Amino acid sequence: MAIRTIRLEDDPVLGKKCRPVEKMTDKIHQLIDDMLDTMYEANGVGLAAPQVGILKKVVVIDVGDGPIVLINPQILETEGEQTGDEGCLSVPGMAGEVTRPNYVKVKAMNENMEVFEVEGTELLARAFCHEIDHLDGIMYTSLVKGGLHPVEYQDE
Ligand code: NI
Repeated sequence: MAIRTIRLEDDPVLGKKCRPVEKMTDKIHQLIDDMLDTMYEANGVGLAAPQVGILKKVVVIDVGDGPIVLINPQILETEGEQTGDEGCLSVPGMAGEVTRPNYVKVKAMNENMEVFEVEGTELLARAFCHEIDHLDGIMYTSLVKGGLHPVEYQDE
Protein backbone atom coordinates (compact mmCIF):
# COMPACT_ATOMS: atom_id res chain seq x y z
CA MET A 1 0.00 0.00 0.00
CA ALA A 2 1.36 3.35 -0.97
CA ILE A 3 -0.25 6.73 -0.88
CA ARG A 4 0.90 9.08 -3.60
CA THR A 5 0.88 12.85 -3.42
CA ILE A 6 -2.18 14.37 -5.06
CA ARG A 7 -1.25 17.24 -7.36
CA LEU A 8 -3.16 20.43 -6.79
CA GLU A 9 -4.96 22.71 -9.19
CA ASP A 10 -2.04 24.97 -10.11
CA ASP A 11 0.24 22.04 -11.03
CA PRO A 12 0.93 22.17 -14.81
CA VAL A 13 0.74 18.36 -15.06
CA LEU A 14 -3.04 18.63 -14.64
CA GLY A 15 -3.33 20.58 -17.89
CA LYS A 16 -1.52 18.03 -20.04
CA LYS A 17 -2.86 15.25 -22.25
CA CYS A 18 -2.15 11.66 -21.23
CA ARG A 19 -0.64 8.91 -23.34
CA PRO A 20 -2.40 5.57 -23.75
CA VAL A 21 -1.13 2.51 -21.88
CA GLU A 22 0.38 0.19 -24.52
CA LYS A 23 0.93 -2.85 -22.31
CA MET A 24 0.46 -3.84 -18.72
CA THR A 25 3.65 -3.69 -16.70
CA ASP A 26 4.50 -4.09 -13.01
CA LYS A 27 4.85 -0.32 -12.90
CA ILE A 28 1.31 0.25 -14.19
CA HIS A 29 -0.04 -2.40 -11.81
CA GLN A 30 1.66 -0.58 -8.95
CA LEU A 31 0.28 2.74 -10.20
CA ILE A 32 -3.29 1.35 -10.18
CA ASP A 33 -2.90 -0.09 -6.66
CA ASP A 34 -1.44 3.17 -5.38
CA MET A 35 -4.17 5.23 -7.08
CA LEU A 36 -6.86 3.13 -5.37
CA ASP A 37 -5.13 3.51 -1.99
CA THR A 38 -4.72 7.24 -2.55
CA MET A 39 -8.36 7.71 -3.60
CA TYR A 40 -9.75 5.75 -0.63
CA GLU A 41 -7.45 7.48 1.85
CA ALA A 42 -8.65 10.87 0.54
CA ASN A 43 -12.32 9.73 0.62
CA GLY A 44 -12.66 10.42 -3.08
CA VAL A 45 -14.88 8.65 -5.61
CA GLY A 46 -12.43 8.94 -8.48
CA LEU A 47 -8.82 9.62 -9.33
CA ALA A 48 -6.98 10.00 -12.63
CA ALA A 49 -3.27 9.27 -13.15
CA PRO A 50 -2.25 12.90 -13.86
CA GLN A 51 -3.50 13.75 -10.37
CA VAL A 52 -0.56 11.74 -9.04
CA GLY A 53 1.76 13.17 -11.68
CA ILE A 54 1.61 10.33 -14.24
CA LEU A 55 0.56 11.21 -17.80
CA LYS A 56 -0.99 7.83 -18.62
CA LYS A 57 -4.60 7.04 -19.44
CA VAL A 58 -5.49 5.35 -16.16
CA VAL A 59 -8.55 6.11 -14.02
CA VAL A 60 -9.92 4.59 -10.83
CA ILE A 61 -13.47 5.15 -9.63
CA ASP A 62 -15.53 3.91 -6.71
CA VAL A 63 -18.90 5.52 -6.10
CA GLY A 64 -19.68 2.97 -3.39
CA ASP A 65 -20.22 -0.15 -5.49
CA GLY A 66 -16.60 -1.31 -5.59
CA PRO A 67 -13.58 -0.22 -7.57
CA ILE A 68 -13.66 0.34 -11.32
CA VAL A 69 -10.32 0.52 -13.13
CA LEU A 70 -10.37 2.15 -16.57
CA ILE A 71 -7.34 1.96 -18.85
CA ASN A 72 -7.46 3.99 -22.07
CA PRO A 73 -11.15 4.83 -21.51
CA GLN A 74 -13.33 6.43 -24.14
CA ILE A 75 -16.91 7.58 -23.94
CA LEU A 76 -19.10 5.68 -26.42
CA GLU A 77 -22.51 7.09 -25.64
CA THR A 78 -24.17 9.72 -23.51
CA GLU A 79 -27.77 10.53 -22.79
CA GLY A 80 -29.72 13.11 -20.86
CA GLU A 81 -28.42 15.77 -18.56
CA GLN A 82 -27.75 16.35 -14.87
CA THR A 83 -26.70 19.55 -13.16
CA GLY A 84 -25.15 19.46 -9.73
CA ASP A 85 -22.17 20.10 -7.53
CA GLU A 86 -18.90 18.51 -8.45
CA GLY A 87 -15.59 18.48 -6.63
CA CYS A 88 -12.07 17.20 -7.23
CA LEU A 89 -9.31 15.90 -4.95
CA SER A 90 -6.98 18.35 -6.72
CA VAL A 91 -9.16 21.26 -5.61
CA PRO A 92 -9.67 20.39 -1.95
CA GLY A 93 -12.55 21.89 -0.02
CA MET A 94 -14.28 23.39 -3.05
CA ALA A 95 -17.19 22.49 -5.32
CA GLY A 96 -19.01 24.01 -8.23
CA GLU A 97 -22.02 23.32 -10.38
CA VAL A 98 -21.39 21.39 -13.58
CA THR A 99 -23.83 20.02 -16.15
CA ARG A 100 -23.00 16.49 -17.32
CA PRO A 101 -24.84 13.74 -19.18
CA ASN A 102 -27.04 11.64 -16.89
CA TYR A 103 -26.07 8.41 -18.62
CA VAL A 104 -22.64 7.49 -19.93
CA LYS A 105 -21.33 4.34 -21.57
CA VAL A 106 -17.56 3.84 -21.53
CA LYS A 107 -15.26 1.46 -23.35
CA ALA A 108 -11.94 0.75 -21.65
CA MET A 109 -9.45 -1.96 -20.77
CA ASN A 110 -9.16 -3.66 -17.41
CA GLU A 111 -5.97 -4.54 -15.53
CA ASN A 112 -5.51 -7.55 -17.83
CA MET A 113 -5.78 -5.25 -20.87
CA GLU A 114 -9.11 -6.87 -21.81
CA VAL A 115 -11.60 -4.55 -23.47
CA PHE A 116 -14.88 -4.10 -21.64
CA GLU A 117 -17.81 -1.72 -21.56
CA VAL A 118 -19.35 -0.18 -18.50
CA GLU A 119 -22.28 2.17 -18.11
CA GLY A 120 -23.48 4.41 -15.37
CA THR A 121 -26.02 7.03 -14.44
CA GLU A 122 -26.04 9.96 -12.04
CA LEU A 123 -22.90 10.06 -9.83
CA LEU A 124 -21.15 7.29 -11.78
CA ALA A 125 -21.86 9.01 -15.11
CA ARG A 126 -20.53 12.24 -13.64
CA ALA A 127 -17.40 10.47 -12.37
CA PHE A 128 -16.74 8.89 -15.79
CA CYS A 129 -16.88 12.34 -17.44
CA HIS A 130 -14.86 14.09 -14.74
CA GLU A 131 -12.06 11.51 -14.66
CA ILE A 132 -11.84 11.04 -18.43
CA ASP A 133 -11.62 14.85 -18.75
CA HIS A 134 -8.54 14.71 -16.50
CA LEU A 135 -6.83 12.50 -19.11
CA ASP A 136 -7.29 15.32 -21.64
CA GLY A 137 -5.98 17.93 -19.22
CA ILE A 138 -9.45 19.33 -18.54
CA MET A 139 -10.30 20.38 -14.99
CA TYR A 140 -13.95 20.57 -13.92
CA THR A 141 -13.28 24.12 -12.75
CA SER A 142 -13.21 25.19 -16.40
CA LEU A 143 -16.79 23.88 -16.79
CA VAL A 144 -18.27 25.38 -13.64
CA LYS A 145 -21.05 27.88 -14.01
CA GLY A 146 -21.41 30.43 -11.24
CA GLY A 147 -18.05 29.93 -9.56
CA LEU A 148 -16.70 27.64 -6.87
CA HIS A 149 -17.88 27.51 -3.29
CA PRO A 150 -16.45 25.85 -0.18
CA VAL A 151 -17.69 22.42 0.95
CA GLU A 152 -17.18 20.52 4.18
CA TYR A 153 -16.71 17.21 2.41
CA GLN A 154 -15.12 15.90 -0.77
CA ASP A 155 -17.12 13.71 -3.08
CA GLU A 156 -14.79 13.44 -6.06
NI1 NI B 1 -10.79 15.48 -10.33
